[in-house]
Amino acid sequence: MSEHVRVLFSEEQVRERIAEMGQQISRDYEGKQIHVICALKGGVMFMCDLAKCITVPLTMDFMSVSSYGSGTTSSGIVKIVKDLDESIEGKDVLVVEDIVDTGRTLSHLLGMLQQRNPKSLQLCTLLDKPSGRVVEGIEVAYSGFVIPDCFVVGYGLDYDQRYRNLPFVGILSFED
Ligand code: IMP
Repeated sequence: MSEHVRVLFSEEQVRERIAEMGQQISRDYEGKQIHVICALKGGVMFMCDLAKCITVPLTMDFMSVSSYGSGTTSSGIVKIVKDLDESIEGKDVLVVEDIVDTGRTLSHLLGMLQQRNPKSLQLCTLLDKPSGRVVEGIEVAYSGFVIPDCFVVGYGLDYDQRYRNLPFVGILSFED
């Protein structure tokens, strides 16, 4: 079986949407400093490009929470692989994710971060797959694109750790 990737959002579409999101976030956080937390590894490309489009003062930290094995369906097992370097107490925290699918990873992550007493805690995701949601009540403050029920790769998103480097978001399919 061979893998095939079809473009869903081109490099240009992604760039334009991220620029819009950066402008909106800059407006919403005017007069504040944002502490951006990037969920590794998938969120890293999005975070780098988004941060360049944000005009208010910004600091960054990284965290790695794994929820998937090597397949394409959520395992439900959430594990902290790398914790934050700095305290988030009293900070305006913006969590930057690649995709919200079942919501299991995010609900675990956000619950844990909330216990550390940030001043505010908001979620920004490049992609939102609402049809996959298992955990309800996750508020997505900023969403780049809402996508249908499909498995996507590229722009940070992987299949078995590959395809993260694609400059666009594509749908992965398997063909004989
Ligand atoms: P959730 O816990 O099901 O919301 O999934 C969160 C994580 O699963 C994301 O941060 C991704 O790493 C991964 N994931 C979910 N859907 C996809 C997909 O379509 N392609 C690649 N990774 C995905």
